[in-house]
Amino acid sequence: LRRESPVRYDGARGCWDVFAYEDVHRVLKDSRIFSSTRGPAAGQNMLYMDPPKHTQLRELVNKAFTPKAIQDLAPRIQSIAEDLLDQAAGERMDVVSHFATPLPVIVIAELLGAPAEDRTRFKSWSDILVESAEDLSEEAFVKINEKRMQAIQELSEYFVKILELRAQHPQNDLITALMSAEIDGEKLSGRDIINFCILLLAAGNETTTNLITNGVRILTEQPSLQDELHANPDLIPRFVEEVLRYYPPIVAIGRIATQDVEIGSQKIRAGDQIIAWVGAANRDEAKFAKEPDRFDLQRSPNPHMSFGFGIHFCLGAPLARLEGKIALEVLLRRLHEMKLTSEQDLIPIQSSFVFGVKNYPIS
Ligand code: HEM
Repeated sequence: LRRESPVRYDGARGCWDVFAYEDVHRVLKDSRIFSSTRGPAAGQNMLYMDPPKHTQLRELVNKAFTPKAIQDLAPRIQSIAEDLLDQAAGERMDVVSHFATPLPVIVIAELLGAPAEDRTRFKSWSDILVESAEDLSEEAFVKINEKRMQAIQELSEYFVKILELRAQHPQNDLITALMSAEIDGEKLSGRDIINFCILLLAAGNETTTNLITNGVRILTEQPSLQDELHANPDLIPRFVEEVLRYYPPIVAIGRIATQDVEIGSQKIRAGDQIIAWVGAANRDEAKFAKEPDRFDLQRSPNPHMSFGFGIHFCLGAPLARLEGKIALEVLLRRLHEMKLTSEQDLIPIQSSFVFGVKNYPIS
């Protein structure tokens, strides 16, 4: 598709698909022409906002989400990863449910200051936030939307309580930092903070789970990589980048045109929906001249767009990279010669935007 029709209109879905690297890059870069205010959550959190509101919010949360704050989490992430493997030891291990799912959920729950006993509720809320409809019927969409609204309502009530507690007793945590972040005398409102916390659950959990699982998947598909990384663990960050390019957890990003515009000689009208296929762009030979379909541990530079590009570039990228690196380091060190054990076909996650599998049993 990328070669034959790099920009095409899909009448059944009612949107434009954009596949080539250069075009995907342009769509993500130009937030004036390609707006993020789309879908039912338009305007509710920064992912679905345009400037100037987006700029203001992003600057405020950047103050709390600093590289130093993320780097300080490393020892804790390491100890969570080791504990999860201890618990899975002796069992037939499923990478997804025993390791890659709980790790980011625990990290975000702790980051938000939620007590350990609330983790199971956190997990089920965050699952509902990213769950896809069972099929394309109107009924299925209504059902999933109701479930999602209910989860958002429960999460909001939960965070209102945490905000009240932090207002009385400030802590050294993300919520307290968000409550005190200030730009030109402006602070975040309670509603903004709550919406942001809900966004972190939706944006940070399943994506990171899939990064870790997709990494293990490559290691079992190409076992010689396990030897290479054992011999040289310094290559793990580069491995993580190539996993992101090769099996991106998010394969596509939506936008909406604010004015008539031409992409690759196709005329797109104001109001049209556009899907920028990051997964296709990441394999574009025009950008990745060196065998884009090959997993290349030595690939450098690696300008994949798996964390997006431009003003919405993933806020959690440093955290996701850190979790991915630590998770794979721990797995490689403790489990020798990981192998996929199931003979059955892997079950893909049902979503056109997410790339991952539901289970990945290994020995
Ligand atoms: C935005 C991917 C992990 C928080 C994005 C975007 C992508 C993305 C593609 C841009 C969407 C757009 O342009 O519309 C990923 C991937 C992850 C990951 C592949 C894991 C491998 C995380 C984590 C967090 C997070 C761990 C936080 C805990 C966010 C937020 C935004 C975002 C808040 C919105 C930024 C904005 O609108 O300015 N992510 N993400 N993400 N991500 Fe991530």
